[in-house]
Amino acid sequence: MSGIKIRGTGSAVPAKTVTNADLSRMVDTDDGWIVSRTGIRERRHCRGETHLELCGSAARKALEMAGAEPSEIGVCIVATLSPDQFTPAAACLLQRDLGLAEDTICFDLNAACSGFLFALHTAERLLGASSRKLGLVVGGEVLSKLMDFTDRSTCILFGDGAGAAVVEFREDWPSISAVLGVRGNYPVLNIPGAGGAEPSYIHMEGQAVYKFAVETVPKCIGAVLEKSGHAMEDIDEFVLHQANERIIDAAVRRCHLPPEKCYKNVARYGNTSSASVAIALDELVRLGRLGPGKRALCVGFGGGLTWAGAVIEFT
Ligand code: UT7
Repeated sequence: MSGIKIRGTGSAVPAKTVTNADLSRMVDTDDGWIVSRTGIRERRHCRGETHLELCGSAARKALEMAGAEPSEIGVCIVATLSPDQFTPAAACLLQRDLGLAEDTICFDLNAACSGFLFALHTAERLLGASSRKLGLVVGGEVLSKLMDFTDRSTCILFGDGAGAAVVEFREDWPSISAVLGVRGNYPVLNIPGAGGAEPSYIHMEGQAVYKFAVETVPKCIGAVLEKSGHAMEDIDEFVLHQANERIIDAAVRRCHLPPEKCYKNVARYGNTSSASVAIALDELVRLGRLGPGKRALCVGFGGGLTWAGAVIEFT
């Protein structure tokens, strides 16, 4: 037995709200199509805010809620596929901006929409070997800069934002029982990157990803319950990646999840990739639905293809 619990959370989104009506003036789409196929009503897009500013703001709020000093942090991981630059890593610049100690293990991690949970698992393992037992895990994205605003099938889906958690490791706490998976696949979901033949926009075969998601999420929930030894009834909130309301509803049906325990904020933020689970956790904590004594089962899925699930407790 040894593992992490969340001690504080934070989130930050850009000020600019982009509604479905705004997008319908840019591409051939309409609010009715977007809401019925995705549940998304609006999303936030950066207009000057940087990825680092969003991550820093979320991290500061998490540190404040945790009552933690930057000097207590031993590991800082930023999950992202859309940092401001290739190097320095966003986590390195957070070290500077937040005043983390120079021997803090700081790095970025790209597991797309599963990134925050990959990062929590990694932080749990690293903190076990660290002399400082607090970690800072951030999921942050500025996807608006990677969107082709002439492609109606993708530009309606994504948004910008960041979520953060300060986690604490103890030898006598249970592990988050993370289940991680990868099935390498370029065509169904990719962003080519600098120097490639294609422009660096998000490309997605929506139906293939949808099928992958509705098959993977229930399997992942089952695997996490089995690994953690928990029953469905032990879980207070199911926090699923906010990619599409229909995918969440399909998981509710297939796994017989209580709908009132399946948080949704996809209507307000769209799909924020690695930030999605982190923002939802922060909102649930601030609503009083999660906190000490509560247990969340989180699932992420997306590019890679990747998937990840874990049981999160709070201190
Ligand atoms: O975080 C990564 C994980 N990503 C996801 O989870 C995304 C998973 N996929 C999805 O959520 C859905 O596949 C989408 C929301 C992306 C698309 O929904 P769909 O029901 O699979 O639609 P479709 O791709 O089958 O397209 C149906 C029709 C097509 O027209 P035709 O060929 O039937 O005439 C599309 O051209 O809808 C059309 N269409 C649109 N119409 C209005 C595609 N995008 C739009 C749009 N507005 N924005």
